[in-house]
Amino acid sequence: MRTYVITGGTDGMGKGLGLHFLRRGDQVIAVASSAKKGGAFLQEAAAIGAGERAVFLRADLSTLTGMRATLARVADLADTVDGLVFGAQRFRPRREVTEDGIEFTFALHYLSRFVLGHGLVDALARADTPVIMNICGPGGFPGRLHWDDLTLREGYTGTRAAMQASRANDLLGVAFPHRHPNTRIRYVLYNPMMVRTAMADPLPAPHRILTKAAGFVFGRSVARAIPPIVQLLDEPPGDPVTAFRRRTRLPLTSKDFDPDNAIRLDTLTAELVQR
Ligand SMILES: NC(=O)c1ccc[n+]([C@@H]2O[C@H](COP(=O)([O-])OP(=O)(O)OC[C@H]3O[C@@H](n4cnc5c(N)ncnc54)[C@H](OP(=O)(O)O)[C@@H]3O)[C@@H](O)[C@H]2O)c1
Repeated sequence: MRTYVITGGTDGMGKGLGLHFLRRGDQVIAVASSAKKGGAFLQEAAAIGAGERAVFLRADLSTLTGMRATLARVADLADTVDGLVFGAQRFRPRREVTEDGIEFTFALHYLSRFVLGHGLVDALARADTPVIMNICGPGGFPGRLHWDDLTLREGYTGTRAAMQASRANDLLGVAFPHRHPNTRIRYVLYNPMMVRTAMADPLPAPHRILTKAAGFVFGRSVARAIPPIVQLLDEPPGDPVTAFRRRTRLPLTSKDFDPDNAIRLDTLTAELVQR
C-alpha cells in the first residue's frame, strides 16, 4: 500500500487521482480548504469501499499556518509518503493578500508547494520510489517572474499572477535537487493543458463562460487527463527533475528553467518563509 498526499485532492485532477489510488488499494490524504468538498470526497471514498484508507485534511494552503499545520498532520498520519501531488489552486480575479501579507496566488500556487515539498522530504525519502508531482504549467502560456514586485502590487491581473506562479513552479522544480543533492526523490513538473475542472468557476461571468466553452471544445475530462500523471507517479523518469506537457517531455533548456533564476527564487522564498 502506497501513501499519497494530494493538495487540492477534493476536486478536479487531484480528486480524480485520489480516487484512482484508493480504488487500487493505496492510502490517500487529500488536503483542501472546504469541509463540503472534503465531505463529498470521503463519501465517494466510502462508496468504493476505501473509506478507511481516505483522509480529508482541511487546511487553507494560502497561509503559512495552514501549510505548517498540514506538515504536522501528515507527520502524525504517515511515516512514509510515496507520492506528493500538488494540485491546489484557486483563480483570483482581484488581488488579495493573505494574513501573512503575501499575495494570494503566489502563496497558494507556489509558496505552499515550496513549504510542503521541502517539509516532506524525510517522509518521501523513506519510500521506494518517491515522487513529487507538481501539476502546474511548464511549456504552457508565457509569463514571467516580476522580480522587483513578486506580490504584484502594481498591475495585478489574475492571469498575470497565475502565469507568474507557473514560472515560479518551473524554477521550484529546478532548485529542488540543489537543496537536496543526493535525494532519490524525483521531481516532475507536469502541464496537463486544458482540463474540464472547477478551475474556471471563480472567473467573472463573460470570461467564465468563454473559458468553459473552450474547455468543452479543446479540453479533456479528468478521466482522460490523469492516466499520464499516474504513469509518471508509478514509473518516474530517472533524472532528478523533469518537465512534461501531457506526454511530451520538455527539455529543461529554456529560460523558464534557468538554474541561476531557480537559486535566486529559492533564496528569496526561504527568506520570505523565515520572516
Ligand atoms: N484545469 C486545467 O485546465 C489546468 C491546466 C493547467 C494546469 N492546471 C493545474 O492543475 C492543478 C489542478 O487543477 P484543477 O483544475 O484540477 O483544480 P480544481 O478542480 O480547481 O481544484 C482545486 C482544488 O484546490 C483546492 N483549494 C482551493 N483553494 C485552496 C486553499 N486555499 N487551500 C487548500 N486547498 C485549496 C480546492 O478545494 P477547496 O475549494 O475546498 O479548497 C480543490 O480541491 C492546478 O495546480 C492547476 O493550476 C490545471
